[in-house]
Amino acid sequence: MGRATGDAEAGRSGRPFAEGERVLLIDRKGRRKLLRLRAGRSYQSHAGVVSHDALIGLPEGSEVAARTNDEERRNSAKFLAIRPSLSDIVLNMPRGAQVIYPKDLAAILLAADIFPGARVLEAGVGSGALSMALLRAGADVTGYEIREDFAATASSNVAEARGGNERWGSYSIELRDLYEGIEGSYDRVVLDLPEPWRAVDSAAAALVGGGIFCAYLPSISQVVELRQALRRAGFGLAESFEVLRRGWYIEGRAVRPELRMVGHTGFLTTARLLVGAGAVEDFAAAEEEGEESSS
Ligand SMILES: C[S@@+](CC[C@H](N)C(=O)[O-])C[C@H]1O[C@@H](n2cnc3c(N)ncnc32)[C@H](O)[C@@H]1O
Repeated sequence: MGRATGDAEAGRSGRPFAEGERVLLIDRKGRRKLLRLRAGRSYQSHAGVVSHDALIGLPEGSEVAARTNDEERRNSAKFLAIRPSLSDIVLNMPRGAQVIYPKDLAAILLAADIFPGARVLEAGVGSGALSMALLRAGADVTGYEIREDFAATASSNVAEARGGNERWGSYSIELRDLYEGIEGSYDRVVLDLPEPWRAVDSAAAALVGGGIFCAYLPSISQVVELRQALRRAGFGLAESFEVLRRGWYIEGRAVRPELRMVGHTGFLTTARLLVGAGAVEDFAAAEEEGEESSS
């Protein structure tokens, strides 16, 4: 296999930084800056100048100092240099549309049971954050996007994050309206657009039996509308949930929940394509069955 060059490629972890790859600089206050290393260039930070040449060849996890003439700032002019994780990339990359946050991206990968080689139809691709998560899990992704500018942003964000990494799945974006239908056969349909219920019938036609439909929606009234459409279209084992992530502050013996947390982002709904009307009646919702078996 050829040498992988993606930023998030595990095989590169711990190696010295090389020209052309991305590095994340973090200052003492936790502020972050994503850079692509180019010999001879420098980054002008609030605390002074960091030369790319000082980073090239440095082992990952090292500290680097910014050059400053200000004696008082000398101590604060240090940065930790690490390779960006996929979460770092998603939160720091150029955006067209609003991205799905890492906590929800992580949940989608298992809720939709994404696997290497899975044929996934994704719409709309927006800024490409969800595409990256799916591709890095090894899925082959076909993306539908209605806006040309967003398709271009997603395409360049994905290319930047992938580098030459051959372990990522294949990716193509088609400029088209999802509500006008889906061409081809898929194992998974994963949607992040305003009216996914309008695509439920075409998703049912495109998915293999047992295939998973997954949609991300910001409001619960949208979720209700989607659930009704899923049931009508022959999907069962439906589940809707949100992911709440609460960090904890731990400093010595001072331990408490963090005062601020990312509150509501969105709801995830998954359902599986069942074959036969009887199956849909018997297995409409996963949680109903779960409640029965646990009582
Ligand atoms: C919230 S963004 C998706 C963000 C993306 N999941 C990410 O993580 O970067 C919603 C996208 O759906 C696209 N969209 C809206 N309606 C569409 C349709 N009918 N067909 C295809 N794409 C559509 C929008 O242009 C927008 O890019």
